[in-house]
Amino acid sequence: MTTTNDLSDMVRAATALFAQAETPAALENAKAGYLGKTGRITELMKGLRALDIEQKKTRGAAINQAKQAIERALDARRRALADAELERQLQAEALDVTLPGRRRGSGGLHPVARAWERVEQVFRSMGFDVADGPEVENDWFNFTALGNPPDHPARSMQDTFYVDMQDEAGHPYCLRTHTSPMQIRYATAHAKRHAAALARGEIPEIRVIAPGRTYRVDNDATHSPMFHQVEGLWLGADVSFADLKATYLNFCRAFFENEELILRFRPSYFPFTEPSAEIDIRFPSGPLAGRWLEVSGAGQVHPQVVRNMGLDPERFIGFAFGSGMDRLAMLRYGVSDLRLFFDGDIRFLKQFA
Ligand code: PHE
Repeated sequence: MTTTNDLSDMVRAATALFAQAETPAALENAKAGYLGKTGRITELMKGLRALDIEQKKTRGAAINQAKQAIERALDARRRALADAELERQLQAEALDVTLPGRRRGSGGLHPVARAWERVEQVFRSMGFDVADGPEVENDWFNFTALGNPPDHPARSMQDTFYVDMQDEAGHPYCLRTHTSPMQIRYATAHAKRHAAALARGEIPEIRVIAPGRTYRVDNDATHSPMFHQVEGLWLGADVSFADLKATYLNFCRAFFENEELILRFRPSYFPFTEPSAEIDIRFPSGPLAGRWLEVSGAGQVHPQVVRNMGLDPERFIGFAFGSGMDRLAMLRYGVSDLRLFFDGDIRFLKQFA
């Protein structure tokens, strides 16, 4: 028969065994050897049956004490393992608050986008609306409506990307070679408003810019196949070439923040303006001083174009211009090669952020 000493040896052995268990699963295994169905304690309890009533009492109480001692040892080990696990997790997730943070790089607007926003800002301040239109344009808006029929030699002034597609009227599509189609689109889109004004005996006014992307088969330091233009159109009862000059001068002085900047108009040709001009600007001082720099085509809107807008050229007169926005950005930011804008080199672009 086992003695009380045997029982305390057993408790010590169980405690030592539990201490060796490194995981909760190992501990539960070790427990089964004592408290499970075929465990030592259970076996001892069964052994009580053979004893008489007095022995049963004392022996039973001793076994119970041993059982409780083993349960306490088990609980203590369980808690120790859980604490160790928690400690391990805390260690693994520890933050080193002294480490410098990883900052998200701050983005910035592309220099052409900056120039674009600036152009809109300045023209809005002069009462211009801002309009937007399609880059895949049909032949009618891009050429024909602008006095440039299919057999007209002036079409070759603009090397065109044609798209293998036609609209319902059979006009082929192309990537717009300039923003000028927006003159016709904007005027016809506002035809109702104009008709209503005319019915009231007023001459309505069209005063709009249309900035956007344009495309030509062209690629060198000052030309890229995709570039940006801003179209300007101001039509009314008596909008003159002098208004063009004043408007454009105001725009350039505001855009370049230079009150001394001057303009020059050189005679030119466009099928949709008459007379036509190229506008050059000149800075009185600074790195670009002394040179005439071409920035825009312009002119009085041709009567036939006014007719194609659905308006009467006897009552509507005014000017249009089409300026290279990349060119404006190059001049404003002192960039000498247009291609830098579109290479996507972050070292170049960062300078403007
Ligand atoms: N569309 C012309 C071009 O791209 C510029 C222009 C616009 C000229 C409006 C006159 C009037 O070259």
